[in-house]
Amino acid sequence: MEVVESIERIRERVLQLRAQGRRVGLVPTMGALHAGHLSLIEASRRECTATVATIFVNPAQFGPSEDFSRYPRTIDQDLAELRQAGADLVFVPRSEEIYPPGFSTFVEPSSVAAPWEGSCRPGHFRGVATVVLKLFQILPAHLGFFGQKDFQQALVIRRMVADLNLPIAIRVCPIVREADGLALSSRNRYLSQDDRHRATAISRGLRAARNRFLAGEARAELLRETVLSELRQSGITQPEYVAVADAETLAEVTEATAATVILVAARVGQTRLIDNLVLGDSNDA
Ligand code: PAJ
Repeated sequence: MEVVESIERIRERVLQLRAQGRRVGLVPTMGALHAGHLSLIEASRRECTATVATIFVNPAQFGPSEDFSRYPRTIDQDLAELRQAGADLVFVPRSEEIYPPGFSTFVEPSSVAAPWEGSCRPGHFRGVATVVLKLFQILPAHLGFFGQKDFQQALVIRRMVADLNLPIAIRVCPIVREADGLALSSRNRYLSQDDRHRATAISRGLRAARNRFLAGEARAELLRETVLSELRQSGITQPEYVAVADAETLAEVTEATAATVILVAARVGQTRLIDNLVLGDSNDA
């Protein structure tokens, strides 16, 4: 596994792989890797013949009061895990490589970026879309692998790829969870033992709502209340949002269908967690 810091070198390597007829998969990450990230590497290895991971904590997607400076950085362990998982190349640029002095062009993401995460974290998806487009340009992969954990992010990226005619196919892979349902996240390591326990209410609430849906309840407000009630019982009284929404447009719905997603964002202690469940997806949670 080769670790590359420069744009020039990573592009050269990816172009070489393409010239050899290899099908190149790209897995963008911010590091602090866990089994969710590694599932994307595995998905790429199943579908591609070369896998490139990137590790870059992207300052442009963090708000001024967010956790950019204290975002976990575990590069040595990340590289060991990527090697073990079978990545071929890892791109680990320095910040100035991606955002040199004078950098001033950003992607204005689509309407699907507006609600939920978009309104709680102004500018977040602009930063995500900009860095992901840059990565697509820097290392021309055939396929890009993203996690459903960041449901809205995946939609924003799919929309950008369609709108800007980017020559890459996007795959969105299932959420990897702990045995008790908590979605894996680099931020879970911030949770105290008590908060870690309370955090399970999020996936429990999503599952409870799906079970009610499967039992015939389609009224979105009641499904939403099912999640809220589960959160309340764990002392999570003010989630940032619990949205029952169309899984393509993210517009709120009043009647749920199999193509409805429930999106949750909540602070547990100091830690902001997100999770989601598509009601018709019986494999998840
Ligand atoms: P990061 O949070 O490091 O996540 C990298 C990728 O791993 C994303 O596609 C995310 O959805 C996926 N992922 C995270 N947790 C997961 C889980 N439990 N199961 C499955 N997949 C999971 O998302 C980002 O970084 C950044 O916004 C990035 C796309 C790299 C742009 O900076």
